[in-house]
Amino acid sequence: RPHLTRHAFDGLVMEEVPLARIAEVAGTPSWVYSAGTLRRRLGALRRALDGAGLAATIHFAVKANPCLAVLRVLAAAGAGADVVSEGELRAARAAGIPASAIVFSGVGKTERELRLALAEDILQINAESAEEVEAIAALAAALGRTARVALRVNPDVDARTHAKITTGRGENKFGVAISDAPALYARMAALAGIEPVGVAVHIGSQITAGMAAYRAAYAKVGALVRELRAAGLPVARVDCGGGLGIPYRDEPAPLPEALAGAIRAGLGDLGLPVMLEPGRWIAGPAGVLLASVVREKRGAAHRFVVVDAGMNDLVRPAMYEAWHGMLPVAPEALVAPLSPAEVVGPVCETGDTFARGRALPAMQPGALVAFLDAGAYGAAMSSTYNLRPLAAEVLVDGARFAVVRDRQGYDALLAGQRLPPWLAPPQE
Ligand code: LLP
Repeated sequence: RPHLTRHAFDGLVMEEVPLARIAEVAGTPSWVYSAGTLRRRLGALRRALDGAGLAATIHFAVKANPCLAVLRVLAAAGAGADVVSEGELRAARAAGIPASAIVFSGVGKTERELRLALAEDILQINAESAEEVEAIAALAAALGRTARVALRVNPDVDARTHAKITTGRGENKFGVAISDAPALYARMAALAGIEPVGVAVHIGSQITAGMAAYRAAYAKVGALVRELRAAGLPVARVDCGGGLGIPYRDEPAPLPEALAGAIRAGLGDLGLPVMLEPGRWIAGPAGVLLASVVREKRGAAHRFVVVDAGMNDLVRPAMYEAWHGMLPVAPEALVAPLSPAEVVGPVCETGDTFARGRALPAMQPGALVAFLDAGAYGAAMSSTYNLRPLAAEVLVDGARFAVVRDRQGYDALLAGQRLPPWLAPPQE
């Protein structure tokens, strides 16, 4: 995490901005992102693909971090987008990502969403079923458009990641079986409203267990592409999905060069451009969740450090048993004696636990802590559970920083609700 350093007087500093300064301005909890790290990681991925001799485009998976400022940084650095909803499509466009660099994935695109994708004339729609292919064709024909459609296949490989985020097993809801793909692709080519442009695959997320699953998936897709071509069907490109994992703790970290090598091994000899849809690898390490200690509590069995961020902000530990690094922000924190603590939020669930048995110094109320690697699937997955307002978001860029999303206000938190007319209104 080259953007995080510890200074003798300022404590933890992101790029050139002390996190304590950000807490003064933005309050806590707040998400803080490093623009430099976003650019650096996008660049590293691009170099790895270039180095493998691949003609590749990178389409950031907006679901990982839909913050407009984050998207704008990536757009300015040349990234396209992978979107899965109307909201994400609108966010990508609002951040200046051209429609010609947007791919629309997802198993449940609605007619309204498909209409918008066609009206915007985005680069590509990844169809996930025969049923969806027919729906896209009918809609496109009715609108007098031609939809560029890639067929997402399910390669039936095991990415050996958390069961909740594995997507490439035959039993999962995603894509069509490879054995069904040739007939369906031929059907796509025959439909008036559809221009088949290729094959897409995505086998899961936070893949750290080596490249075997990627290699197996790309080998299957490569064989499929050869079969389609032999049948005289046009294939313009392959969408290789996302999923490259990051080391949250001490997992082996696959390098982008390894992924590029796996793509080249399976698809290199096809001579086709490839697309990548990374989310976590680009944004995860670029963000922290900055929180304050509310108080320490001596429990019957544990020392608890209660912070002002909760599972409604960062749900990954509760949802996936995920481990996130955690650093006290204060400069003196490193020299103080450490003892194990349970780090918990204020939400009324035992699952609202960020860390167990974590070695921490004595923490005074108001002491700042940073949860690391929170730039992907952090703010993106937060909710207002326990009626806690959505946290602020801050972008750091060198010595500059800006609040790029205000903390949600309490009026906004209750906005849109009304009582039915037959209930007596509350008196004072
Ligand atoms: N493409 C498709 C079609 C996807 O479904 C996903 C992620 C990606 C790309 C990006 O995957 P990435 O490079 O970020 O691994 N909330 C979970 C992760 C869910 C991933 C869903 N799909 C978590 O916090 O671990």
